[in-house]
Amino acid sequence: MKKKVTVLFVLFITSLFTGFCYAQQVDTELDKRVKDFLDSYRQKWVDWNVTYDEGLVLYNIIIQNGYTKALEIGTSTGHSSIWIAWALSKTGGQLITLEIDPARREKALKNFAQAGLSDYIDAQLGDAHQLVKQLPGPFDFVFSDADKVWYKQYFIDLYPKLEVGGCFTAHNVRNPYGGIKEFLDFVQAHPKMDTTIDTTSRSGISISYKRE
Ligand SMILES: C[S@@+](CC[C@H](N)C(=O)[O-])C[C@H]1O[C@@H](n2cnc3c(N)ncnc32)[C@H](O)[C@@H]1O
Repeated sequence: MKKKVTVLFVLFITSLFTGFCYAQQVDTELDKRVKDFLDSYRQKWVDWNVTYDEGLVLYNIIIQNGYTKALEIGTSTGHSSIWIAWALSKTGGQLITLEIDPARREKALKNFAQAGLSDYIDAQLGDAHQLVKQLPGPFDFVFSDADKVWYKQYFIDLYPKLEVGGCFTAHNVRNPYGGIKEFLDFVQAHPKMDTTIDTTSRSGISISYKRE
């Protein structure tokens, strides 16, 4: 009798655990909309957007660290914003993204609506050289993907607004043109930042965590 009760108890716990795992895997309506959007562009490269694999790198950093206060410099038509905002929809966060070109921002707004992520994104139009200085922060995640000659200055302006434990990422760092080398030399030598380069793509993404 005692053995039978134990077996039934184990079966009950197992079914609870299986049910829990299954619940974790079920996609929400939002997940389906985002995936449909991203899948429709998976083999295309338009408007200087990040690739699918690069977007996944950004998504994973946010999920793994539970970041909630994100800033993107260089929206273009919003593909990286969609990856970032999708992760933020799971951590309970918000994204501010900056774009200087009105037509690209307009298209980005349409893409955000199509992906179902408009509520998670504040898409600001203007010159990031000024906007970055004006934004109060704090941020725990930054993706720099606009004018490369300004990468180092963006980092300098945002360093005081980046929380300890936060992450500053930058795109195209494997192509040492414009200001990329100056930025990388600066951030890699910074005593309070730990930097690695993700080489998933040919472009490369630098990933710098603020240690203290
Ligand atoms: C490489 S694209 C961004 C791609 C986007 N992050 C994505 O993966 O979907 C760079 C964008 O930065 C914008 N940009 C360049 N200089 C800027 C500035 N000073 N302020 C704001 N946006 C700028 C460009 O208009 C362009 O749309």
